[in-house]
Order: sequence, then structure tokens, then C-alpha cells
Amino acid sequence: MNPCRHSRVARNAVLLLVIGLAPGACQGPANLPGQATGEVVSYADHIQPMLTAKCVSCHQEGGLADLVGIALRATPGEAHDSMVNQPSVQDPTLMLIVPGDAEASLIYQKVSSDSPPVGMRMPSLGAPLTSDELALLRDWINQGALDN
Ligand code: HEC
Repeated sequence: MNPCRHSRVARNAVLLLVIGLAPGACQGPANLPGQATGEVVSYADHIQPMLTAKCVSCHQEGGLADLVGIALRATPGEAHDSMVNQPSVQDPTLMLIVPGDAEASLIYQKVSSDSPPVGMRMPSLGAPLTSDELALLRDWINQGALDN
């Protein structure tokens, strides 16, 4: 077992180590922010609240994204179905969320990269997602993007 992956406490400790308190321990790509935490992520407890806080202002009926023709809704009750296994309206060859594959999911690409395959980094206004938020989103997708 990779000792860096089995708990949030361990991961946070690793982040502290990586930022320089104890160089040498557990370094390498596996410990970058956004990597697996080993926890089961809950859509209701972790993902929807993040969408509500950071995405819904534009991704709702009448919001900026809606006005430019984006179908993705971040509103509670609508968000899960409008993301999981849904194509991008901008490039229908891309899927917003591919359950089990965060790297292939446009939503993850758009919150984790300054040069996503279409459009801008999300959220397009305001602060980028934190490394904890990125890790939760990534783990949730990789765990199957459940409505749990
Ligand atoms: C300030 C308004 C605004 C906020 C906040 C915002 N978005 Fe967007 N979003 C847009 C606009 C405008 C587009 C279309 C242009 C683009 O893709 O950059 C878009 C496009 C997208 C797309 C592509 C949809 C498609 O069908 O191609 C995804 C995925 C997305 N946003 C996810 C998010 C997520 C996740 C958040 C929150 C972390 C977020 N957005 C926050 C305005 C916003």
C-alpha cells in the first residue's frame, strides 16, 4: 500500500512535507494536489456544496453560462444529471464527466488547467478551486461519480 494515499491526514501531512518542512519523504507526482485521498467522497456532502458555492451563479437558468448556450446546471437536483455522461455543448466529442476517469472528464480538465480543451479555466471569475476541492472532485469522479 502506498502510505501517502490512505487518509486525508496523511495527505495533508504529505503536502506539508512537499512544501519543504521535511524534503525527501514521499515526494513525487503521486503527492501533488488533486491526487487520490483514499476517502469515499460523497456527492451530497462534498461535491454539490462546492458547485453551489463556486459554479451555480453562472450555471443556472438565466446565468451567464446559460445565456451563452451551456447546458450544464450546477443547481441542486439538476447538477448530477446534467454533468454525468453528458457531452459538452461546445465539443460533443468531449464528455463533461466520464465516471471512473477524472482525467478524461471535461469538468475536471476545466477546473484544473489554465488551458483546457475548450474555453476558459473554471470558475471563469473568482478564485480557482483549492487543492482539496480538486482532490475531492477527482476522487469522486474516479470512484464512479455516484449520486451518493
Ligand atoms: C462567471 C461565470 C461562471 C462561473 C462562476 C463558472 N462558469 Fe463554467 N462556464 C461559464 C461560461 C461562460 C462557459 C462557456 C465558455 C467556456 O467553456 O469557457 C462555461 C463553461 C463550462 C463548462 C463547459 C460546458 C460545455 O458543455 O462545454 C464546464 C464543464 C464548466 N463551465 C464548469 C464549471 C464549473 C465546475 C464551475 C465551478 C467550479 C464553473 N463552471 C463556474 C461561466 C462560468
